[in-house]
Amino acid sequence: MVSIRSSHEIEKIARSAQIVADTLDMLAEKIEPGVPIIDLDRMAEEFIRAQGARPAFKGYMGYPATLCVSIDDVVVHGIPNGDLLQEGQIVGIDCGVEKDGYFGDSARTFAVGEITPEKKKLMAVTKKSLMKGIKAAKFGNYVSDIGYAIQTYVEANGFSVVRELVGHGIGTRLHEEPQVPNYGKPKQGQKLREGMCLAIEPMINMGEKDVYTDEDGWTVRTKDGESSAHFEHTIAILKDRTIILSQRSHNG
Ligand code: MF3
Ligand code: CO
Repeated sequence: MVSIRSSHEIEKIARSAQIVADTLDMLAEKIEPGVPIIDLDRMAEEFIRAQGARPAFKGYMGYPATLCVSIDDVVVHGIPNGDLLQEGQIVGIDCGVEKDGYFGDSARTFAVGEITPEKKKLMAVTKKSLMKGIKAAKFGNYVSDIGYAIQTYVEANGFSVVRELVGHGIGTRLHEEPQVPNYGKPKQGQKLREGMCLAIEPMINMGEKDVYTDEDGWTVRTKDGESSAHFEHTIAILKDRTIILSQRSHNG
């Protein structure tokens, strides 16, 4: 069942999503060669708890950290460790927060120092594909229109869409119905309704779409070893507009 949220509930989801946005803004300043990844995780957890909120990923199905930090060929769910960030890497940082029983979820991919033009393009196309997906996520459209918009744009730019992981409804749980694939045909299945809150999160590969999971049971990597990027926003669908809750300007 898909939950329809009242404006009061959307405000709660917005509050959590705002804490995620502020956490990612804080982390953006720290990204540089030589920084231990585990330090980013510690800073994020402190920052979140200081606001009376809790890291939503920590303990979720046994996940051990506040952030997912996914470097280069890691698509998503990289577990923070003592490794140092290195010049030329692209680093996906995914963060979820729960406050007062409501969840927010967002991810961005950052460059560490100078990166190749191809990695720059991958980041830009992935970010723009998220915005195309959000644009398609409007009242009266279908859930599948989101994935269609993302896939069409990504493939026109020569990259590929990961199939194994998808976006999701969000609200009083981190993952709710519906699933939001980043690929597929338009105008299929469920319609988007007023009060639906979704996390849209394209995972885009530079090479082939295929992925596998490491022995740790979490780290998802590209099969061909090429880089992957990930951007995610939590959004709310209203009758006359769609609001991006996990970015600063959502009040404006
Ligand atoms: N943003 C990811 C998702 O929505 C993060 C979940 S990772 C986990 O699926 F650690 F919480 F499992
Ligand atoms: Co998510």
